[in-house]
Formats: sequence, structure tokens, C-alpha cells
Amino acid sequence: MTDDPFSAPFGSLFGDKMTVARLDDGVYSYPGEAQPFENFSMHPGAHVLHYASACFEGLKAHRQSDGTLAIFRLDDHVARMVNSIDQIQVPVPDPALIRSLILDSVEANASFTPEPPGSLYIRPTFIGTTPNIGAAASPADEGLLYVLCSPVGDYFAGGIRPLTIYVETKTPRTTPQFGMVKSGANYVMALGPTLDAKRDHGADQVLFATGDDTTETGASNFFLVDDDTVITRQLDETFLHGITRDSVVTMAQDLGYKVEERPISAGELGEWAGHGELFLSGTAAVIAPVGTVVVGGASVMVGDGQPGANTLRIRDALTDLLIGDAPDPHGWRTPVAG
Ligand code: PLP
Ligand code: COI
Repeated sequence: MTDDPFSAPFGSLFGDKMTVARLDDGVYSYPGEAQPFENFSMHPGAHVLHYASACFEGLKAHRQSDGTLAIFRLDDHVARMVNSIDQIQVPVPDPALIRSLILDSVEANASFTPEPPGSLYIRPTFIGTTPNIGAAASPADEGLLYVLCSPVGDYFAGGIRPLTIYVETKTPRTTPQFGMVKSGANYVMALGPTLDAKRDHGADQVLFATGDDTTETGASNFFLVDDDTVITRQLDETFLHGITRDSVVTMAQDLGYKVEERPISAGELGEWAGHGELFLSGTAAVIAPVGTVVVGGASVMVGDGQPGANTLRIRDALTDLLIGDAPDPHGWRTPVAG
């Protein structure tokens, strides 16, 4: 297998260190430094293997144009991880612990960071390890909280290219009460419709619009944009509050766009494709242009099917921020040694 992050599948390469804290009797303990990257040994009855007591985060460290390294929106990702751990009913660690696990892991794996447009993808993870297959109705009280680092290139194979999105109006991605939780169970639930849409429509992603209410894809949030306005779904508990989504909303305002956060129907998506642009946003996806929307049985080309000027403008503005080519007015970059 290749060890080039630009040709290996996203997330299939790893740094050689990881940080691990252990949860026992409601208390987390962390040795205070990274350890060699190695397999875990686990009881086959571990809670996570049966009752999905798992959640995770995804954030990135970027090599800056001055050669230093910085993590993007570290504290926002820590806060979302805290919420996810809380929602799977596991004792919540001190946010400072998650922060240290991330910083120590990134510092220990810094040399694996590819040059832009690559980055070091950071994966904080919690798994419940309580060995009890009867514990379906009780949370894990033992577990591992750990942080992996993966050198990555583009999430979508083929680089910046116009994606095909299938709009799913019947099957939901997950349950409304778990929409904001970054739990593995949500992703496995979305697999069926995602594989169907790939097979039947060549779709790269499914955009979930259950009950004609468009929320997010299986791995990103989404935006409509034209020369004046940026539109995205208003926040509620039914979908993941993307941190890239928040960055785009803030940056779009800074760039002078009018920003609307409101409901978007599947019909509006199809209609918007006729005159505007659509893009996806996410840590892995960054800003990914949509070239075709399959909606209501029809395949609609977005503009001329190529990445639009506004999408590229927003993508460039975000990329400049990520790699330190632009000032950081909102304090989103955290420097790390390495
Ligand atoms: N929605 C889902 C389901 C995701 O998996 C992601 C990726 O993390 C997002 C939205 C975008 O979130 P963020 O921008 O914080 O990466
Ligand atoms: C991320 O963007 O961090 C995600 O979690 C998407 C993931 C499915 C790779």
C-alpha cells in the first residue's frame, strides 16, 4: 500500500504515536504523554462492540506558510466532543484533558503532516470497554479516550471536482435526537441509502432532506450561494453543527455576503441549481463544489457543472485561513510545536 497521503484513501495512514486516557469508575487517567501507536486488546463483550458506546471528532492541523503548525478551531471541536460523550451517557472528561490529548498527539506526530493542500487529520475517539453483554440499558463505565493522527490529502478521490449529490427525502440519516452527536452509529445508519445512491446514481454523497427539510450529507453540511447571498439550514438538534459551517457563515459575512440560515426544501435545491451554486462544507470535505444534484428523480446540472466562482472564492478564503496565509481575526488557529 502507498504511504503517500495524496494517493492513499483518506484516513488509511497513521502517525506512529497516539495518546490514550483510560476511564475507570468514572475517573479518567492519562499518563501525560504520547505512546507508540499500537493495537488495543479488548474483551469481546466490550460495551462498544454490542451497544455502540462510541463517539469521535474530526479536526485538522495544517502546516502554515511560515513553516509552523496550527490546529484549526481546537476548542470548538473539544466542546463538541464533550457534548457527544455526554449524549452517549458516559462520564464527561474535563475539556482540558481532551485538549491535552489532542495537543500531545499532534506534537508527537507533527513530522507526518503533509504540506498543503494536505494536512494532519486528528481523530479524538471514545469507546466504552465495560465487559458486560447484559448492559444494553446502562452506559459504559469503563472506556478509552484516545487521539489518532492521520496524514491526509483530499477526502473525495480525484481532488477538487464537481460532486454528484443525491437528495434523499424519505429515509433519515439518523434519529432527530442524535443528529448533533458525532457517534459511529449515525454513520452506519446512513450507509444503506449512501450505497444505494452511489450504485443507482453515481452519487458521491447523499443530501438528507427527510420530509422535504434539507439538513446535511453523510459527512458534511451544505450551502447555496450566488453573487450576493449564502444560504444554509438553520441550526437545531437534528443534524451536526459543523464547525466548518460556522466558519463559512462567519467568513461569508466578513466577505460581504448576505447570510440566510433557514429551511431549504428539495424543490428549492433543484431550482437554485438553475442559477446559483451549491457546495458542501466539512473538516474532511473542506469546501467541495457540487456539479450535479439528483432530486425528485431528475438529474440537474448546477450551473455549467463546474465549480462556481463564489464557491472557489469561499474555498480560497478558508484555505488561506487554515494555512496562515490570512490574518486570524476570530482566533481560530492554535499553534502546536513541531
Ligand atoms: N455533518 C456530518 C454528518 C459530518 O460527518 C461532518 C463532518 O465532520 C459535518 C457535518 C461537518 O462538520 P465539521 O465542519 O465540523 O467537520
Ligand atoms: C470530518 O469531516 O471530520 C468527518 O467526520 C467526516 C468523516 C466521515 C471522514
